[in-house]
Amino acid sequence: MDRKVPGTTILRSVAVGTAALTYLLVVLGSTVRVTKSGMGCPSWPLCYGHLGYVDRFHAILEQSHRYLASVVTIGIAVTAVGVERLGGRSRSHRAGRRPQPKPYLALRKLTRWSVVLVGVQVVLGAITVFAHNAPVTVGVHLVAAFTLLGVVTAVATVLTSIGRAPTGSSRGEGLPRRTGHKIENWAVSALLATVAAGGFVVDSGVAAKCRSLPTCPSGSTVAVLTPHLLHRSLAAVAVALVVGGATKALLRGWSKLLPVAVMSLAGLQLLAGAEVAILGAPAVLQDLHLALAAALWVSAVALAAQANWGQLPAERSDWTRHESLSCDATNGHPAGAALGGAASDG
Ligand code: HEM
Repeated sequence: MDRKVPGTTILRSVAVGTAALTYLLVVLGSTVRVTKSGMGCPSWPLCYGHLGYVDRFHAILEQSHRYLASVVTIGIAVTAVGVERLGGRSRSHRAGRRPQPKPYLALRKLTRWSVVLVGVQVVLGAITVFAHNAPVTVGVHLVAAFTLLGVVTAVATVLTSIGRAPTGSSRGEGLPRRTGHKIENWAVSALLATVAAGGFVVDSGVAAKCRSLPTCPSGSTVAVLTPHLLHRSLAAVAVALVVGGATKALLRGWSKLLPVAVMSLAGLQLLAGAEVAILGAPAVLQDLHLALAAALWVSAVALAAQANWGQLPAERSDWTRHESLSCDATNGHPAGAALGGAASDG
């Protein structure tokens, strides 16, 4: 596919690298929280007035989070500039004689959102420090972090799908067609709601107070029951939808690895959730539960992005076949052809 779309190889690597670093940033943020290092640096943006590492455990963790956030911000900015340039390659597109392909417009919108969200997240991080980790700021910071991770994952997925087209079956039968992506999109919404409810459990200070399944021990107060039952019910709905979306992708032969990863991560996350609840939320399990939540989120968003903007047929010969179709449809403009093909189902 790279042969057909010059210049996207580096851009795709930057986008995928940025998404991977954003995942690590979210997990590191959780480690900062569970090790109670959130106030490891009581000032912002410098730590005790230092730019370099301060020789204390909590400060080192908090500073690493800030440094990694800076690298992610640069990665997002570079990706956004690259995507804007990708759209400006064709003179006729630039002159407005031909409309930009729909998937390119989606990609551009997503990268612009990633720039806005990373700015919001930096400000929220500062507010969290100034507010001494007030629960509400920690909760908003968590949801914004997952949203940003979702957007950069979608950008990386769309860029990776360039030139790989939806065909409707693993054997490449039939032309690209609309299939409806409701279940994947609902799964993503339900997962984000579950994450927000998980943050609610933590921020209400009741994480260790519901040590039974499926509901909390009898006699639990409303303050304990509400966040836990909300979180568990949403998790059940989210997992059902995520598994439904993955099953659909498998049955239609769009790809194998991603749906299998989604299903496995969903199962592991349910187990980790049950363990963290029963064992009274020990720090290590909290971190694992968050890391699995972020991995499940990344794979579910990637599945939804593929369904919306580019499904990958299982066989490479099908991509080539579709690429030539897309090229014809866009008068041979390579980026337009590839992007048009990647999202013509969306
Ligand atoms: C799709 C499935 C699930 C997702 C995406 C998810 C996600 C999350 C998230 C993001 C948090 C907040 C972590 C933090 O702020 O650091 C959380 C907390 C929590 N979740 Fe889940 N969860 C899921 C399923 C479950 C299940 C099934 C249970 C129990 C039966 C559970 C129990 C808990 C508990 C006890 C906490 C508070 C302790 C902690 O921070 O780990 N979760 N969850």
